[in-house]
Amino acid sequence: MRNKLSNLQKIKLMEVFYFTGSGNSRCMAEFAAQALDVEAKALELWPKSTGILFLISLFGRGSGTKAAKAMVRPGEPVLLFGPVWGGLLIAPLRGVLSLCRKRKAPVVLVLSCGSPDEKRYSKWGYQKVLDAAKKVAGEWLFWATAVPVSLGLDPMPEDKELMHYRLEEKGLSKAQKERIMESVHRLRQTKSAAISEP
Ligand SMILES: Cc1cc2nc3c(=O)[nH]c(=O)nc-3n(C[C@H](O)[C@H](O)[C@H](O)COP(=O)(O)O)c2cc1C
Repeated sequence: MRNKLSNLQKIKLMEVFYFTGSGNSRCMAEFAAQALDVEAKALELWPKSTGILFLISLFGRGSGTKAAKAMVRPGEPVLLFGPVWGGLLIAPLRGVLSLCRKRKAPVVLVLSCGSPDEKRYSKWGYQKVLDAAKKVAGEWLFWATAVPVSLGLDPMPEDKELMHYRLEEKGLSKAQKERIMESVHRLRQTKSAAISEP
């Protein structure tokens, strides 16, 4: 009984945050939030301009997020979603990851990206973004993975199409749901830090 109660408390305290440019990370975050029975919260950002955020990301800087400062609570697990842009760990994600480290909040990161698993080590692939996230959050990065928009699609859409693929219109594939659920389970465990091998 006591264990059941402490599990319920744990789940209630989990936060799901997302930053999104075109809605894909929101779609994934909402799916995870539903599984955790919490609300997915959008990160309110400064600066608002995508171009400026991209530039800040290029210089390896984080951007402050008002909402994250108010919402990342010491020691409480965070499930964070956001896109890969230009093969970079983007400033809003870097900002939250660094805040999680400062506040000793275990964090699980789920990237949304255009390039598929097979190209994860390429210039625009997600692997170096996962590596950068690990450097920023250190041992507080509990788990990190990526969900390519093409994951589970057969046939695979053309490269050009992938950049404009909207999960909110097309829906999540079974494989995408499974990968997101794996991160939800990792968040619940909060045991050891590791970069995923999808
Ligand atoms: C400016 C820009 C740059 C992008 N760069 C990459 C990239 O380097 N690698 C990649 O895999 N996908 C890249 N993408 C695709 C996005 O990561 C992908 O569409 C993602 O699902 C968008 O998530 P969002 O809708 O939450 O913003 C890029 C998209 C944009 C708009």
